[in-house]
Amino acid sequence: MKIWILDNDRNRTAHGAKRIIEEAQKRNMNLEYVAIEDIELIIDWDLEERLFIKNEKTKLPDIVIPRMDSSYQIKSIIDFLENAWVKIINSNNARLLANDKFLSLQKLALNRLPVPKTILLKGMPNIDFIEKQLNYPIILKKLDWHGWKWIIKVKDRWELEDILEMLEESLVKLNKVLLLQEYIWEKAWQDLRIFLVWWRVIASMLRKWKDWDFKANFSGWWSVSNHEVNEKEEILAIEATNLIWLDICWVDLLFDKDNWYRICEVNASPWFKWLEEATWLNIAGEILNYIENRYFIK
Ligand SMILES: Nc1ncnc2c1ncn2[C@@H]1O[C@H](COP(=O)(O)OP(=O)(O)O)[C@@H](O)[C@H]1O
Ligand SMILES: [Mg+2]
Repeated sequence: MKIWILDNDRNRTAHGAKRIIEEAQKRNMNLEYVAIEDIELIIDWDLEERLFIKNEKTKLPDIVIPRMDSSYQIKSIIDFLENAWVKIINSNNARLLANDKFLSLQKLALNRLPVPKTILLKGMPNIDFIEKQLNYPIILKKLDWHGWKWIIKVKDRWELEDILEMLEESLVKLNKVLLLQEYIWEKAWQDLRIFLVWWRVIASMLRKWKDWDFKANFSGWWSVSNHEVNEKEEILAIEATNLIWLDICWVDLLFDKDNWYRICEVNASPWFKWLEEATWLNIAGEILNYIENRYFIK
């Protein structure tokens, strides 16, 4: 059984990849890191599709763990592999859905899971309409971005108008969409990240923003601590994972009134540096246990 971790070359020595490779070596698993820059795909009319690594024809792996990334390059490689019956953890469909904050929140909401009220912003909206739907401050964020930047807390009508006018032209040109979202402020300086593998909670951490701001995931400015999930948190996380159909994922919860929650996002990225630091658990090992158990490798 051959397993690949698929990512950009520059992430070769990142914590997640390093830890999974380390754990795989301990177990004598056949696992290697493949950089997408080294891959060439060829499709020919006789249906014999071929994959080359560093110009050498390569036997396809059995399982691939891709890094979360919405680039066309990685999507096309994963699609190619999926068509060749390679198992992808997480599947392309699940990854694409998780990566689209609007569609994934919509799916959760349709299944009655609590999410922040969210408006899709395709171009310049009617501000009166927005104000009827949401109170200030309003969160403005990118639909497909994961990584703390570009989440803006808009404080009033003037600021909203300014930002939208500035963005209007580029939004249409770039064919990009943004989201406007209700601000969940109950514990605005923290959020709860729950890590699940195969619909089971493995670990969870509480992130606290050090500077009393809302961006709980601004790395370096927040602290993390181990968190024991309660029953409500566990049920929400499992339901969310189930609906998005992810094998390995993060569910981010925001704290709401009355000891309740809103699901901020579901994240298909299997990386876990802070979690291993906060909990001292062997998360890389858990991921490999999953692969061994699910795909009967021994
Ligand atoms: N609607 C919201 N209300 C309150 N805080 C929010 C809201 N949306 C995002 N945040 C804060 O910003 C952080 C990042 O938002 P998120 O949507 O998870 O983006 P990213 O993809 O960058 O992780 C969250 O962890 C949370 O602390
Ligand atoms: Mg997040």
